[in-house]
Amino acid sequence: MSDHPFSTASSVQALKWSDRGLDVLDQRALPGEVLYQTFDTAAGVAEAISSMRVRGAPAIGIAAAYGVVLGAKHGFARGPAVWKQAIEDDIRRLAESRPTAVNLFWALARMREAISRTEGDPVPQLLAVARKIHEDDFAANLAMGELGANLLAGAQGVLTHCNTGALATGGYGTALGVIRSAWRRGGMERVYATETRPWSQGARLTVWELNQDKIPATLLADSAAAWLMKSGAVQWAVVGADRIAANGDVANKIGTYSLAVLAKHHGVKLMVVAPTSTVDWATASGADIVVEERDQRELLHPCFLEAGSVVGAWNPVFDVTPAALVDAIVTEAGVVLNPSAEAMASLR
Ligand code: MRU
Repeated sequence: MSDHPFSTASSVQALKWSDRGLDVLDQRALPGEVLYQTFDTAAGVAEAISSMRVRGAPAIGIAAAYGVVLGAKHGFARGPAVWKQAIEDDIRRLAESRPTAVNLFWALARMREAISRTEGDPVPQLLAVARKIHEDDFAANLAMGELGANLLAGAQGVLTHCNTGALATGGYGTALGVIRSAWRRGGMERVYATETRPWSQGARLTVWELNQDKIPATLLADSAAAWLMKSGAVQWAVVGADRIAANGDVANKIGTYSLAVLAKHHGVKLMVVAPTSTVDWATASGADIVVEERDQRELLHPCFLEAGSVVGAWNPVFDVTPAALVDAIVTEAGVVLNPSAEAMASLR
């Protein structure tokens, strides 16, 4: 039985608010260790995001919202008259923690709007907004689970990429939530999960969540996806998103674009599952999305970092899949088939 505060429908919690601050499940330690660490400052939460203790677009946004609450708590304690000015530094630091997931900027905009309305002690008021962001994400995931499972009717095998489960969200998951809902309905036989190099979110996190739910799963190297699709074992690839442009282009974990190209070639359908907080109406197309590049040390053997080495590494951690390669975008507000700027407008 889950100890999730919103429902018993989800297994693990990436983020828990307590009197001490924000308890963050350190996802770098999984699956070996379930280790929570408490952060009681906005700067600490920003560091938890940039170091990938917490990751996944919706979870990053939720963590940042709680980070603003912590910033307000300390700022108000120091100077009730000037905390609204001081919190701008905290918001800036949180905004700089990672560049691609738009949920981060969406959540900070909501918190900033709440700050503008706040009078007196800000903590209870801002905490209520952060909790609402958290709860709404969980509810959106349950709704998307049902909508996405409708599309998966008849599919015996699905492929997923990265981790989009309870760990990456306010609970239940986006793409993994759809897979959970479809599994409960029956008919699906097996979930295939890519390793997701270089951070191995699939190998460490997704198969861990699937194992907890006792959903039969097969892990494969990222480079085995074409061969899997050719075998006929999967009818759908189901992935999440970090940012969806107004024309339906999708930024998601590096390797998603490769899967989309492969899926088109093999007649496998591609479903993107993301809450409307991931849709960036201000970004017209994927060409305008900032793709995070992380340290080459995440890829490169240390021996190539020594003096005299002429080898470097290129480590983009997201890519952009053109809308034309996507069959369906599933949000809590509805499903967009064959996304385009016109089709996406139905969500506004
Ligand atoms: O680098 P990460 O682990 O934060 O990347 C996560 C992803 O790319 C997910 O697919 C995306 O955030 C959707 S999570 C519901």
